[in-house]
Amino acid sequence: MRLPNDDVLKQSSRYLELIGGKAMSTPEKEAFIGETIEAYERFVNRGFLTYRKSVTEAGQFAALEWSGEGAVLKDLLGREYIDALGGYGIFSAGINHPKIVQAVQQQMGRMALNSQELLEPWRAGLARLLAAVTPGELGCCFFINNGTDAIEGAIKLARLYTKRNLFISTLGGFHGKSMGSLSLMGKASFREPFAGGLQDVRFVPYGDADALDQLMCILEATGQQAAAFVVEPVQGEAGGVVPPDGYLQRVREICTRHGTLLIADEIQTGMGRTGKLWGVDHAGVAPDIMCLGKSIGGGVMPLSAFISTPKIWEVMIPNPIIHSTTFGGNPIACVAGIAAIHVTLEEDLPGQAAVKGEYVLKELARLQQAYPQVLKGSHGKGLLIGMEFPTDELGYRCAAGLFKRGVLVAGTYSKARTIRIEPALGIPQKLLEEMVGRLEETFKEIAG
Ligand SMILES: Cc1ncc(COP(=O)(O)O)c(C=O)c1O
Repeated sequence: MRLPNDDVLKQSSRYLELIGGKAMSTPEKEAFIGETIEAYERFVNRGFLTYRKSVTEAGQFAALEWSGEGAVLKDLLGREYIDALGGYGIFSAGINHPKIVQAVQQQMGRMALNSQELLEPWRAGLARLLAAVTPGELGCCFFINNGTDAIEGAIKLARLYTKRNLFISTLGGFHGKSMGSLSLMGKASFREPFAGGLQDVRFVPYGDADALDQLMCILEATGQQAAAFVVEPVQGEAGGVVPPDGYLQRVREICTRHGTLLIADEIQTGMGRTGKLWGVDHAGVAPDIMCLGKSIGGGVMPLSAFISTPKIWEVMIPNPIIHSTTFGGNPIACVAGIAAIHVTLEEDLPGQAAVKGEYVLKELARLQQAYPQVLKGSHGKGLLIGMEFPTDELGYRCAAGLFKRGVLVAGTYSKARTIRIEPALGIPQKLLEEMVGRLEETFKEIAG
């Protein structure tokens, strides 16, 4: 309902005071929490409140995220949570990494966004750095603000280069929810309501290179060819699903043999998450196009990119705005990306993820032996880990039990019975041990 301007000014002034750090008494905080819930109900989406209630115990759904540092976040009432979710993969460098925040603040003090007319130095600088850290001939970049747009761009680039419009994706794969990227989604419930408008895509089981080869042979025999095969090196939203050894090497060989581009979706696996800088590094494979997102913005700015080889990029040259966006490649996001790459290498975040991931998986194997009726299994690479519960209900109970104990986790997009563990890669070992301890308490409680 439209309100008089004076009312809007009063409300926005109040918000600005709180943003500015105005202190609140406990009753004021409680009132603010109530107001926020009401705004979610009326103006955001009350379905989200229903979801929060399903993964928390009595009344706790109303926690308001307020501040954070490293692998710990705090709600408005000052309660601390070990962040074992990492903002679904954006906080690989931790929450508010000081070096990344500082770089962004410095750039903001100069100019936050750009005219889009002059040359943007940090876009160029970040592209140069990415060319230096990505595999093979990858070296030409386009920047946008979220993962789905990176996939959209990759789809357009592959169509432009190959002049084909058929794609292949994997069951269980997740590549975003805008119309193009949604076409690649390996799960019916998100696709069905929009089926009519989706890009033509065929699916193969994840991890099955023979199935991919067979599909490509069938396509060829029927006079068709795919523009690209899109694949995550480890499936992230599916909950840390690791393909068999040798899979990506075979995928690379099959794509090359059939003249189909290989698009690696590194939006979640990139920037050290799986224990190497890129998920494809485990296989020593160079894709034709790579999509980056989430933690490339250092957990401070939204940033994503697609990057390809100079040869493929030629199709973008004649009309350099054949693909363009207002905010893509803006200075503060690119500065965050530069700082994120610096921190990732300087702190050896991939190496830390490898060691800590092994520790967590070992502990989960122990807990599975101790509580087989609760934990059915676990899998993952580096700090991209999924725990499998026998039922969705047990998954919800585990998430709620952990939340009660101050550990933040979440289910996957496909099922609540898979719970992910995806903390900051630099999470201190002591905090990981604390997290495992709270997991054990939760399992003990559920086992009764
Ligand atoms: C592998 C992968 N691709 C694409 C996306 C979509 O990214 P965004 O949510 O930033 O659009 C995600 C998000 O979870 C992802 O994990």
